[in-house]
Amino acid sequence: MKIWVGSNRSGQLHTEDEALIRAADHGLTVGDGVFETLKAEHGTVFAVTRHLERLTRSARGLGLPDPDLATVRDAIAETVAANDAHELARVRVTYTAGTSPLSSERGGGQPTLIVALAPASPTPDSTRAITVPWVRNERSALAGLKTTSYAENVVALARAKAAGASEALFADTQGRLSEGTGTNVFVVLDGQIKTPALSAGCLAGVTRALVLAWVDAATRAGAAGFPSPPVETDLPFLPTLHSADEIFLTSSIRDVQPVIELDGRKIGEGAVGPVTAAVRDLFRARAAADADPR
Ligand SMILES: Cc1ncc(COP(=O)(O)O)c(C=O)c1O
Repeated sequence: MKIWVGSNRSGQLHTEDEALIRAADHGLTVGDGVFETLKAEHGTVFAVTRHLERLTRSARGLGLPDPDLATVRDAIAETVAANDAHELARVRVTYTAGTSPLSSERGGGQPTLIVALAPASPTPDSTRAITVPWVRNERSALAGLKTTSYAENVVALARAKAAGASEALFADTQGRLSEGTGTNVFVVLDGQIKTPALSAGCLAGVTRALVLAWVDAATRAGAAGFPSPPVETDLPFLPTLHSADEIFLTSSIRDVQPVIELDGRKIGEGAVGPVTAAVRDLFRARAAADADPR
């Protein structure tokens, strides 16, 4: 595997063993960094522009210098070209505050930029999820930013895996449905597609935004299967999940993935619901037609 390591202006590819960063990098010592995970299928990276826009938003939210997007784009292209064109791969862009004191104080050095790629397993057609008692803090200074401080997600995902599930769902501090450890969540209630508003502290997922836009367009065009536009709204955590006819997750790697069991209880008939299937098919078709939807 080849990994690109450098700064905001320049860098180069290294073998996995030689792709090194400094021990005092603030991304490593205190999680002072931001990241993006992009999907690459057979060497084609999806939605680069949207991911780079979010990288900039996250960096600004942390008070980091803007990433040089030309450098990031080149680094992604070089990394993809230098690695095997896997059927499905995860392209990971990490951008940190760089070398800093061994405290929360940030140093004035160059940011660190890393681009790595690893093969990903094909996403199963459906999955199981659990709820967890820990919350997303929608009032956190980091709310909505894709920072490298992800240990809360690590702990919650480990609990999901131990329960035979692939995702854990959080409420926010006010008891509203928020998101998963690495996914946004949608529910279908009485035929209507709903997802938590960003005020519930969830990440503004690239896939979430595309699902909202594409389903909205399909509804307006009168397409079969989409009777009403999707809504972003406040959703009480357990009452919503327990009454949902269908639940699905979205993320860059999973695309649209139906949840057929939550906390050991079947959702709907325990099979993929018709609305979710229509959203999944729509997403596949629109994504196949445009690898960089704006
Ligand atoms: C916490 C969290 N929520 C949601 C998502 C989904 O976002 P996207 O569709 O941009 O991958 C991710 C992606 O990794 C995430 O980490």
